[in-house]
Amino acid sequence: TPTWRGLIEEYRDWLPVDSDTPVVTLLEGGTPLVPALEVSRRTGCEVYLKVEGANPTGSFKDRGMTMAMSKAKQAGAKAVICASTGNTSASAAAYATRGGMTCAVLVPQGKIALGKMAQAIVHGARILQVDGNFDDCLALAEKLTQDYPVALVNSINPDRIEGQKTASFEIVDNLGDAPDIHCLPVGNAGNITAYWKGYVEYAEAGKSTKKPRMFGFQAAGAAPLVLGHVVTEPETIATAIRIGNPASWTKAIAARDDSGGLIDSVTDEEILEAYRFLAATEGVFVEPASAASVAGLLKKAAAGLIDSGQRIVCTVTGNGLKDPDNALAGAPTPKVIPVDAEAAAAQLDLA
Ligand code: F0G
Repeated sequence: TPTWRGLIEEYRDWLPVDSDTPVVTLLEGGTPLVPALEVSRRTGCEVYLKVEGANPTGSFKDRGMTMAMSKAKQAGAKAVICASTGNTSASAAAYATRGGMTCAVLVPQGKIALGKMAQAIVHGARILQVDGNFDDCLALAEKLTQDYPVALVNSINPDRIEGQKTASFEIVDNLGDAPDIHCLPVGNAGNITAYWKGYVEYAEAGKSTKKPRMFGFQAAGAAPLVLGHVVTEPETIATAIRIGNPASWTKAIAARDDSGGLIDSVTDEEILEAYRFLAATEGVFVEPASAASVAGLLKKAAAGLIDSGQRIVCTVTGNGLKDPDNALAGAPTPKVIPVDAEAAAAQLDLA
């Protein structure tokens, strides 16, 4: 089998690129669709995890960034900027480096996970912490792109959505058809917009016989789409989706309604339970926000709202290594022993 060439080459005919587009890629995409054995057992369904943490910078953002950065470079941009809860900035920093452009990132002060900050730093981004939330950062980034020669690479840039829609293509290509339900976490609402666009395009081209119902899940403390109004002070342990005024609001609602789906919320407790469950039971380590998709599915199943036998895909959007603080919180420090096999065996209950 040929080596994966990155999503622009793999799906070139479906993307707004031409022969002159300089492809900025780290060979993103082609991520695993892992059967979720225990989630399947609990729900009576055939559940898969689309493991987006397997992308080069550890999140789904790389799909959008290969497109946004290639198009920005084609347009002659020398500098890009984004607002971010952490993953967009990590991805933008890496892809800007790859494309020979400079990258500025605006992040909410003290509210991005450790690994994501480390990524922006090692890739050499210009980082500003803003005394405000993500929504403030995005407004600031938009203002700067209006007044200065710098390209915006947030998901309101349509090239981002084009790249991210390829996750749906991969799922249909893997399964041979679209699933019945697709669950994913929702923050700024770009990704639910992109997945739905991908499913619609593939169905219209005859690549699938159906389209899934889109199930989006927000954190309860940051659930504007569920409440129907802007949340001015969003709060959740899942900092990636700590967003109160999603940029793709209308498109997310359209994806929900056109697909016969839903957008609901899950509490931080439900998110953390699914987060630990995925790591400890399925062997898949995701960041807290990513677990919202599975938390939501389990919540709906427990409420008796999921007919058994359906094929369901949950996108887990980011790698667990992004957020070591949440992984370690409350965990005891491992015991120290001498270099002694008997002592080790005793501690490990092997004897
Ligand atoms: N999951 C993770 C891990 C994310 O980083 C994000 C968004 C989402 C889910 C939600 O996706 O915004 O398209 O609805 N992160 C953005 C960022 C906001 O700046 O990294 P969405």
